[in-house]
Amino acid sequence: MKVFHTVSGLRDDLVRDRIQGLRIGFVPTMGNLHEGHLALLKQAKKTNDIVVCSIFVNALQFSLNEDWDKYPRTYQSDSEKLRDAGCDYLFHPDDTEMYPNGLDTQSRVICPTMTDVLCGASRPGHFEGVTTVVSKLFNIVQPDEAVFGIKDYQQLAVIRRMVEDLCLPIQISSAPIHRETDGLAMSSRNRYITDDERPLVTVLKDSLDWIAEQIRDGNKEFSELENMAAERVSEAGFKVDYITCSNSKTLDLAAYDDEDITVLGAMFTQAARLIDNVSLVKD
Ligand code: PAJ
Repeated sequence: MKVFHTVSGLRDDLVRDRIQGLRIGFVPTMGNLHEGHLALLKQAKKTNDIVVCSIFVNALQFSLNEDWDKYPRTYQSDSEKLRDAGCDYLFHPDDTEMYPNGLDTQSRVICPTMTDVLCGASRPGHFEGVTTVVSKLFNIVQPDEAVFGIKDYQQLAVIRRMVEDLCLPIQISSAPIHRETDGLAMSSRNRYITDDERPLVTVLKDSLDWIAEQIRDGNKEFSELENMAAERVSEAGFKVDYITCSNSKTLDLAAYDDEDITVLGAMFTQAARLIDNVSLVKD
């Protein structure tokens, strides 16, 4: 595995690979890698000749009250995991390499409307930071394919939309949610869950699964289902951020005749905000 810290270094190698006709896959991450991240890499390896992974904790997608400064930075073990999993190129730029003109004057990529809802409603500016950094990374790597996890469903939908709107010649692929044995979606933020909370946090997934089951059985009283699921999460002791049935593509509130619906949820533990989702139509 080759490691690059500069845009120009990575580009030099990728130019040579592209001339040889090699297909380039890309997996962007913020590091602190777990099995879920590595599954994206393994998926990308199946359909590409060279796979690039990036590790960059992107300040632009964190607001001031969020955990950018304490976000776990575990570069050493991350790079070992990536090497073992067969990553070809690791791109690990610092803040100055990615934002040489500083954050305040950085040009931005905005994907309106669908970033105002769900996680976007409680994390203003978050998705603007994501679309901006992902656009930059796409321009640096110029991959044929990029793989994102369904775990961050809204992020995946927003990136698909950005790629479509801006005619970016990149295939966006999705990878299933990697879970702990009890169903908790793997996340770098699970480390903030206390021992007391740990057995209870699966209530989020269980509630989303329950809604999905109800919808499959023909119950389309979406807001009633959302309220009942939210009550269950509250009863387990967690503050609900949202539980919403959405159109899987547009993220608008699900309509009665929508065929492709995703149920998304977010809740707060004492020190973490956890998200999960379940789609009714498998892609
Ligand atoms: P990060 O949270 O590190 O996630 C990197 C990728 O791993 C994302 O595509 C995410 O959906 C996926 N992922 C995380 N947990 C997963 C799980 N349990 N199962 C499957 N996939 C999982 O998402 C980001 O970083 C950033 O926003 C980024 C896109 C890198 C832009 O900064």
